[in-house]
Amino acid sequence: MTDKAQATEDGQAQGDGAESLTVTDNRTGESYEMEITDGTVRAMDFREIKVNDDDFGLMTHDPGLSNTSHCRSSICYIGGEEGVLEYRGISIEQLCEHSNYLEVAYLLMYGHLPTQDEYNDWVYQVTHHTYVHENVKDFMDGFRHDADPMGMLLASVGALSTFYPEAKDLSDDFQQHVSAVRLIAKMPTLAAFAYRHSLGLPYVYPDNQLSYTGNFLSMLFKMTEPRYEPDPRLERALDVLFILHADHEQNCSTAAVRTVGSALPDPFTSIAAGVAGLYGPLHGGANIAVVKMLQRIESTDNVQDFLDGVKEGNERLMGFGHRVYKNYDPRARIIQEHIEEVLEATGKQNPLLNIAQELEKRAMDDEYFTSRKLYPNVDFYSGVIYEALNIPQDMFTVMFAIPRTSGWMAQWMEWMNDEELRIVRPRQIYTGPRDADYVPMNERNGGAS
Ligand code: CMC
Repeated sequence: MTDKAQATEDGQAQGDGAESLTVTDNRTGESYEMEITDGTVRAMDFREIKVNDDDFGLMTHDPGLSNTSHCRSSICYIGGEEGVLEYRGISIEQLCEHSNYLEVAYLLMYGHLPTQDEYNDWVYQVTHHTYVHENVKDFMDGFRHDADPMGMLLASVGALSTFYPEAKDLSDDFQQHVSAVRLIAKMPTLAAFAYRHSLGLPYVYPDNQLSYTGNFLSMLFKMTEPRYEPDPRLERALDVLFILHADHEQNCSTAAVRTVGSALPDPFTSIAAGVAGLYGPLHGGANIAVVKMLQRIESTDNVQDFLDGVKEGNERLMGFGHRVYKNYDPRARIIQEHIEEVLEATGKQNPLLNIAQELEKRAMDDEYFTSRKLYPNVDFYSGVIYEALNIPQDMFTVMFAIPRTSGWMAQWMEWMNDEELRIVRPRQIYTGPRDADYVPMNERNGGAS
């Protein structure tokens, strides 16, 4: 809390003019000086601006929190104007080229690249926490045969909290760590169980001899063969996708994790909030919406008509636009680089790819999109690559949730150890009636006053 918002005696600003903001309240003529720190002013400083002593003070109004920083974080940097993404300062391009998802998860969580010993230990721990309690299978079985896998994932992540009551001790560093290991390890297992349930197939237990992504492919696709042998090209492509989806600073689901986390429930419950946020079509659900959109467009011949519909406001170009990126999303570029190799490995062609490329080309030539800085985001091509990997559409958002778990846990741990942590409790502008009287039922007149 700062005490820098002070009315000057003569109504004139007294600041040194360097890192401060002077605000004049035209209702009173008073001027206030506020400290600027890291390009921000504290919203609470506005509370000092009052017309009289009884006044509550000014609030800031920011629906969707478009211009409000709600934490300090050293995990993920997005340069929205340049189209840059870094985890702990390392570019996503370097990580995709040289690292792997589990190493990136460690980096996000602990702030540095692991030494060989740290890495071996970390991989061992994650690999040996992939099993879920047998009861999890029972409640998976309780879902309808056609239940949406994302709904199943949401429920089962929340349910994990009941298996680990010790995780409620948020002051215990070991509990924080082991909860992160458990969540990262079990997420693919829960996801694969949800998928197998929707097909009526038996669940496949984790294979600890395989890599993180290889084991996931095994749990999805293994049939009667004694051991599933993942295609290393697909294993690697999936690993790159997982790196790309691991974190993205204060997006809707991460903000949900921090918001719910601020009330101090166990981490499984907070991460379930993240899964819930991701579910929506404007966030993680966009990858499904993109493929549905491409299927509806049907052919490259219909692309222009579709874009005209977007410009008339009848459609939304799913997979385009971003709150922070005002340039090409670097994740979309990297995904594109891997599409061809996945198609080559699977020997498949995906006609939706041509439609997507034509959409991108035309949109990038169109003033409507360029003037609004609408570029492809991560979801524009991810569905196309998931299709090539034989992942069914309703699993796409689940595919996003698996790797985002490491980002959510890193953000949750950072928040739990942040001296600025306090319960998230926003304000509102109340627009309803006051001092209304209770009217007995027989005297009510519907909505009429
Ligand atoms: N198609 C057409 N117009 C758009 C789009 C779009 N996809 N996105 C934004 N606009 C327009 C919007 O209508 C507005 O125009 P105007 O100034 O004339 O009113 C302008 O661009 C600014 O848009 P906004 O709605 O204020 O932007 P926002 O920051 O509130 O929304 C967004 C960001 C991602 C929700 C939005 O761009 C969108 O709905 N995109 C499609 C869904 C999508 O692809 N989501 C995935 C996001 S990336 C991964 C993730 O977060 O999971």
